[in-house]
Amino acid sequence: MLTTRKFQFCLLLVGIILVLFTTIPGCDKNKKTTVINPNGDSELALLMREMTDYMVLQKINVAGGKEPGKYPLHFSAIHAAQPTDPEVRDDVFTGFADHFINKLKEFNGATPENRQDAYKQLVQSCAGCHQQICPGPLAKINKLY
Ligand code: HEC
Repeated sequence: MLTTRKFQFCLLLVGIILVLFTTIPGCDKNKKTTVINPNGDSELALLMREMTDYMVLQKINVAGGKEPGKYPLHFSAIHAAQPTDPEVRDDVFTGFADHFINKLKEFNGATPENRQDAYKQLVQSCAGCHQQICPGPLAKINKLY
C-alpha cells in the first residue's frame, strides 16, 4: 500500500517536471535573435537586447580601465517586463532577476581594482538565469566574459 503510494507520488513528480518543461518553449522561439518575431518582440526580449548592448559596452570599458558610466536604472524593469511566455515570470525568475540587479549595483559601485571581477560576476548572473530558464541566448552571453 505504502509503496504504491510512493510510486504514485513519483509519477506525479515526473508529471509535474514534464509539464514545467513543456511550458518553456515560448522562450526558445527567441533563440535566433536576428529573426524578427512575427508576433512582435516582447517587452522582456527588447530589454534583454538593450542589456546585451550595455554589456558589450561595459566589456570594452573594463578592458580599457574606464568607468561604467551612468547606472542603467531602467534595467529594474526586468521584474515587470512582459515575457513572450507569461509562465516564465515565476519565483525562480524573480530570484535570478534580484540577483542580477544586485550584481549590476555591485559592478557600478566597484573600485577600479574590483571592476573586472564584478563584471565577470555580472555576466555570471545573466548566464545563471539563462541556464535555468532560457538556454537559447547562452552562446551570446558566454561571449561577454
Ligand atoms: C531573471 C532571468 C534573466 C536574466 C538575469 C537575464 N535574462 Fe536574458 N532572457 C531571459 C528570458 C526569460 C528571455 C526570453 C525573453 C522573451 O522571449 O520574452 C531572455 C532573453 C534574452 C535574449 C534574447 C532576446 C531576443 O532578442 O529575443 C538575450 C540576448 C539575453 N536574454 C541576454 C541576457 C543578458 C546579456 C543578460 C545579463 C545582462 C540577461 N539576458 C539576463 C531571462 C533572463
